[in-house]
Amino acid sequence: MAKAYKIAVLHGDGTGPEVMAEGIKVIKAASAKYGFGLDLKDYDIGAARYLKTGEVLPDSVLAEFKKCNAIYLSAVGDPKVKPGILEKGLLLKIRFDLDQYINLRPVHLYPGVECPIKGKGPKEIDYTIIRENTGGMYTGQGGQTNKGTKDEVAEQRMIYSYAQVERLMRYAFDYTQKHGKKKKLAMVGKSNVLTYMYDLWNRVFDEVGKDYPDVKREYYHVDATCLYMIASPEMFDVIVTENMFGDIITDLAAITQGGLGVAAGGNINPKGVSMFEPIGGSAPQWTGKNAINPIACIGAGAMMLETLGEVKAAKAIEAAIAKTTPKMRSQMAGQMGFKTTEVGDLVAKGI
Ligand code: IPM
Ligand code: MN
Repeated sequence: MAKAYKIAVLHGDGTGPEVMAEGIKVIKAASAKYGFGLDLKDYDIGAARYLKTGEVLPDSVLAEFKKCNAIYLSAVGDPKVKPGILEKGLLLKIRFDLDQYINLRPVHLYPGVECPIKGKGPKEIDYTIIRENTGGMYTGQGGQTNKGTKDEVAEQRMIYSYAQVERLMRYAFDYTQKHGKKKKLAMVGKSNVLTYMYDLWNRVFDEVGKDYPDVKREYYHVDATCLYMIASPEMFDVIVTENMFGDIITDLAAITQGGLGVAAGGNINPKGVSMFEPIGGSAPQWTGKNAINPIACIGAGAMMLETLGEVKAAKAIEAAIAKTTPKMRSQMAGQMGFKTTEVGDLVAKGI
């Protein structure tokens, strides 16, 4: 067999392993058909390990991740783990340490998937959000003084350097030039209030944009963007935004494409190791019922193959998903009309 990609697989918690099993089934089917190898290595990282050993992400494991071609991450989390521990110690740590500065979130409504917005279908819900993934308020700079008193002051800073914004914009313009259907890049911000931030952001957006004369530039405030994402999502092609705003609008986007059972995301370092994940949580209440929707995890697998350069395989998976969703009764857990494993089988066969 030709090239084998070394992929670190994190099966996650709750329903995480169930959706990951289907993701693996599908990428294996694609590897057999398109003639590339998969060298998968499993890691028991997540809530279960933390609860057992107190370890979240040992440095030795992080060092191994750096030598992989990609990381395939399922949903992690357990109600027994305090909020923030796995988010910061695992997900954000990998994003930061591997400098995955792009969060790529395709917002496509698959055929047959019910859209909560009246009158909108796959033609209207068809754009991509590029979220900055390692800066802004997520850097955790700030602090508290006079803690526990009425004079307490808490501060969390939104910080960006020129270089951080520039590399993001370059990726966003390249992406729009290559993949944008309308060659239109919309920057989303809040320049009417966050004047320091957006003095920098708008300037870099325009400066970098000059190198891409074929890409049309637009700017929208984040609050108005939420309104447009519901009222007229068809106006968007590619959106680029900062970390916190991107976190919020990508969840809004997810519900317009059928919810967290469907939405996939990539944490990308264009010159390094990237990580792909279903963006939903571990939905522990559905564990072991074979009733959770694996489409998001399968879609994340397709994104991973595309980023690795297996474009034909990725397109075949996307097409197989698009043939499967119309057969499903719903994208909600327990209401799909199929078991988790059956959805995986349908997509795998569709390849
Ligand atoms: C996401 C998640 C994470 C984020 C959390 C789990 C830290 O919501 O990937 O969107 O805020 O980035
Ligand atoms: Mn989020």
